[in-house]
Amino acid sequence: MEKCCVLILAAGKGTRMHSAKPKVLQELLGEPMLGLLVHNLAPLFGEAIYAVCGHGREKIAKAFPNLKTIVQAEQLGTGHAVQLALPTLREAGYSRVLILNGDTPLVTADVVSSFLAQAKDADLAVATVQLKDPGAYGRIVREAGAIKAIVEAKDYSVAQYGEPSGEINAGVYVCSIDVAHTLLPQVTPSIKSGEYYFTDIVALALKAGKKVVGINCGRDERLLGINSPKELVHLEECLRAEIVERFLNQGVLLHAKELIRISPLAQIAPGAEITGPCEIYGASVVESGAKIMSHCVLQDSLVHAGAEIRSFSHLQGAEVGEGCLVGPFARLRPGAVLEQDAHVGNFVELKKTHLGAGSKANHLTYLGDAVIGERTNIGAGTITCNYDGKYKHPTIIGSEAFIGSNTALVAPVKVGEGALIGAGSTITRDVPAEQLAVARARQKNYDHKPLPKETTQETQNS
Ligand code: UD1
Ligand code: CA
Repeated sequence: MEKCCVLILAAGKGTRMHSAKPKVLQELLGEPMLGLLVHNLAPLFGEAIYAVCGHGREKIAKAFPNLKTIVQAEQLGTGHAVQLALPTLREAGYSRVLILNGDTPLVTADVVSSFLAQAKDADLAVATVQLKDPGAYGRIVREAGAIKAIVEAKDYSVAQYGEPSGEINAGVYVCSIDVAHTLLPQVTPSIKSGEYYFTDIVALALKAGKKVVGINCGRDERLLGINSPKELVHLEECLRAEIVERFLNQGVLLHAKELIRISPLAQIAPGAEITGPCEIYGASVVESGAKIMSHCVLQDSLVHAGAEIRSFSHLQGAEVGEGCLVGPFARLRPGAVLEQDAHVGNFVELKKTHLGAGSKANHLTYLGDAVIGERTNIGAGTITCNYDGKYKHPTIIGSEAFIGSNTALVAPVKVGEGALIGAGSTITRDVPAEQLAVARARQKNYDHKPLPKETTQETQNS
């Protein structure tokens, strides 16, 4: 059986995006286009996925350190990109290659499976889509139903090819590596753009007596490319609506569904409840019975059953245990872990901090690099001073401790189990278990004679 791999063409600049970012790193629902393609194709091809990178390749390598890449230093066109990659694919033992444009991120495993099944006996197959207006896409030219050529929009002449049928090239192809290897050197640069077009291979393959098929995939929008912000937003909206509909059908309660954005990588269990507007990105997981209220943003976070995330909370790389209450206006940064029934209230920020079961930090607090035991109360305005300007230091607080309001814990520092800290303390030394620590200036009361009323007013007015 022929061994098939994937080649993603991702070297282009994406001039029409007007961005310094390489186009394939532009995001849909928080995921870069290239990541979406790899995510969709990995179930079929595993590790056998290669990408041709050129413009901004360092940024791509940084974002996808495990992706196999082939460098196209100068972007001379899609034909040049494929030709350059073939020796690597051959050496790796592949005889067939599925080629996809990197700016077609919604191609799914289903679409690809069906395309490959129909293309089984062909030396070269092209996926096509039927559009009302073929726009800037390469046009499919057929004769008596059989594909004859792909002609780029710029080069299309009605006199030569007739009125365009609306059938366009989706930029998804499968071909024999040997056939491509023989034919691509025969491609000549386009007179209009100077680029080597991969699409010229269709006419060349037919001339060489090869079997070429154009597989019409109907009006499937998932096969459209992204070249401009407008196209990106359009396809992103198609994907968003599809994801939301899928979760609704599975039994997730999504209020104001038009305003909910969920990453294709996220998992939301039936029985979870989300109120829009709301954004759930990355590999976030929301379990059954969890509730996410409006204006929250979750990124790569895990919310366990029965937890409630109240409005305007921001979670990134955080884990919220069963029955926890978070927010409104809470910020959980990477490494924030809340055990069962913990509470984090308004204007509280946690970073790399473990808050034990039943513990509470309800108001105006920063906890960083801290480990806090169970049923401990962190008073309003508590701050872990974890950074000395150069290094970060830990704060350890035992179970059933009580940290009075407006306490500064100067790390590294430990507060033992059941300890009590007086409000307004600046704690610089460890507090043993069950001790009361008060570290603030003792209050002194002085005699104070109020000024006569008129003088007070004059002073205030001056
Ligand atoms: C291409 C097709 C067109 C098709 C459309 C579908 C060609 C010549 N045209 O046009 O028929 O209808 O896609 O979306 O192929 N790239 C490289 N190296 C290069 C040039 C491009 O890797 O030297 C990559 C780009 O990063 C992009 C992909 O190839 O991901 C397609 O290039 P793009 O310039 O977007 O081609 P289109 O004009 O959209
Ligand atoms: Ca394109």
